[in-house]
Amino acid sequence: MAFVRVRDVSYRFGKRLALEGVNFSLAKGGFAFITGPSGAGKTTLLRILHGDLPLMHGHAVVAGFSLNAMARSELPLLRREACLIFQDYRILPERTVFENVALPLEVRGLPRARVAARVAEMAGALDLAKVAHERCDNLSGGERQRVAVARALAVGPQLILADEPTGNLDPDAALRLMDVFRQANTHGTAFIVATHDERLPGMIPGARLLHLEAGRLTATAEGGDGEDD
Ligand SMILES: Nc1ncnc2c1ncn2[C@@H]1O[C@H](COP(=O)(O)OP(=O)(O)OP(=O)(O)O)[C@@H](O)[C@H]1O
Ligand SMILES: [Mg+2]
Repeated sequence: MAFVRVRDVSYRFGKRLALEGVNFSLAKGGFAFITGPSGAGKTTLLRILHGDLPLMHGHAVVAGFSLNAMARSELPLLRREACLIFQDYRILPERTVFENVALPLEVRGLPRARVAARVAEMAGALDLAKVAHERCDNLSGGERQRVAVARALAVGPQLILADEPTGNLDPDAALRLMDVFRQANTHGTAFIVATHDERLPGMIPGARLLHLEAGRLTATAEGGDGEDD
């Protein structure tokens, strides 16, 4: 089965058509950017792939799971392999950075020492070591954004869906974040990254470029890792 395959996917919020006839594929370990203006449907597409919004029309396979054939009880299995980094972070504000990143590792039953080591590794990679024991509601927007990234990367999913992950980062921090993504990609993690930032795709050589305009894909430039349709 394909790793990610989207076929003729459309989505409506009431009368508003948010996605129309979207088609693309991504191979295991691939990297794709979804660009496009505000309201183009980027978040809607990521939420469908994450099983957050129902697949109303069309067919989709994500991390080897068919969204058409999947029971709701299988959603946690999908989300183990396809992590969404939300545009608004959705970290726990009253918990520390450490606690937020540790939580999904603890849920998976990792021993405490391994949890601590993995959290430290992620905090180092994302420049969060200094604030590791701060509550998240004391952090800046960019720091919170990096906590959300650290939490997703820590568990080593097959696919990361990232919604505007550099939205609150300065250009240097954005560059460093793309470096972290590139490294994880080198180790086999696939990425689909939604962004307004036209500079990001250039930071990942060979990435696939998908451009959404008013719910339609208007360009699908093939990188080296796209699957043919
Ligand atoms: N919960 C909702 N209810 C109704 N309409 C919605 C909802 N969420 C999104 N929409 C509409 O669907 C369309 C696509 O929205 P979406 O959030 O996917 O865009 P986006 O490309 O992520 O935009 P941005 O770059 O601003 O994050 C927009 O017209 C938006 O108003
Ligand atoms: Mg969005």
